[in-house]
Amino acid sequence: MGEPIASVGQRAGHESAHAGAVRDMFQRIAPTYDLLNRLLSAGFDQRWRREAVDALEGAPPGEMLDLCAGTLDLSQAIERRFPERPLRAIDFAADMLARGRHKVRHARVEVGDAMALDVPAATFAGCICGFGLRNLSDPRKGLAEIRRVLLPGGRLVVLEFFRPAGGLLGAATRSFHTVYARGVLPLAGKIVADDRDAYAYLARSMASFLTRGEAEQALRDLGFQHVHGVDLAPLGVASLLVADAPRGGS
Ligand SMILES: C[S@@+](CC[C@H](N)C(=O)[O-])C[C@H]1O[C@@H](n2cnc3c(N)ncnc32)[C@H](O)[C@@H]1O
Repeated sequence: MGEPIASVGQRAGHESAHAGAVRDMFQRIAPTYDLLNRLLSAGFDQRWRREAVDALEGAPPGEMLDLCAGTLDLSQAIERRFPERPLRAIDFAADMLARGRHKVRHARVEVGDAMALDVPAATFAGCICGFGLRNLSDPRKGLAEIRRVLLPGGRLVVLEFFRPAGGLLGAATRSFHTVYARGVLPLAGKIVADDRDAYAYLARSMASFLTRGEAEQALRDLGFQHVHGVDLAPLGVASLLVADAPRGGS
């Protein structure tokens, strides 16, 4: 079985091998995914998810999509915050979805590929993608696919560990990432999930991902409007990107 490719730039030409390896990896770590998330973020991950879901406020009426939904923490938060909204949760790792199935009540939970959604254009009023974008074989194409399935004016919220940019805060965040990437993540992955490689990949993929600014530009290039990003405490290690699909036919 192949390994996922940490560097986005090196995935070109190997898209299906990378996607298959990512799916296998998440199938493998599904049993310990939630526990490691809480431990590795010191519990901050759930606060980040609530802030991400708050940013869906302002989406037009209609169905929400939790894309790369994993063990359904974001779907659970969406059901709590917007109990009246129809919700669909899509991920290609069936075991991740199965682990979280008990967290949701009315959400439609489906196995599917974020790069080629089996969904007509202009279906969703809002889409959230938490810690999924950097795993896609081509994140820019993934954003284009999201734009395709959003209604005009539909809201996109991305929660992600982007590559830290320059500047003082960037330097502090970079040091934090380095310690995490080289030490804490692989070690915790080995101890809790008995899978050093998976957590080494997850850490390396942060260091070689887009910066938040680059991802904002990619959204503007795709015609998204009102694009803005927010770094979340502590140290801005996780960030939110919020943008609206264009209302006109652009
Ligand atoms: C780090 S987990 C995040 C899960 C969840 N959103 C959360 O906040 O915890 C990334 C998820 O993205 C999924 N994923 C990666 N590439 C995908 C693709 N091409 N299509 C669908 N799901 C994908 C993985 O299976 C995994 O469950």
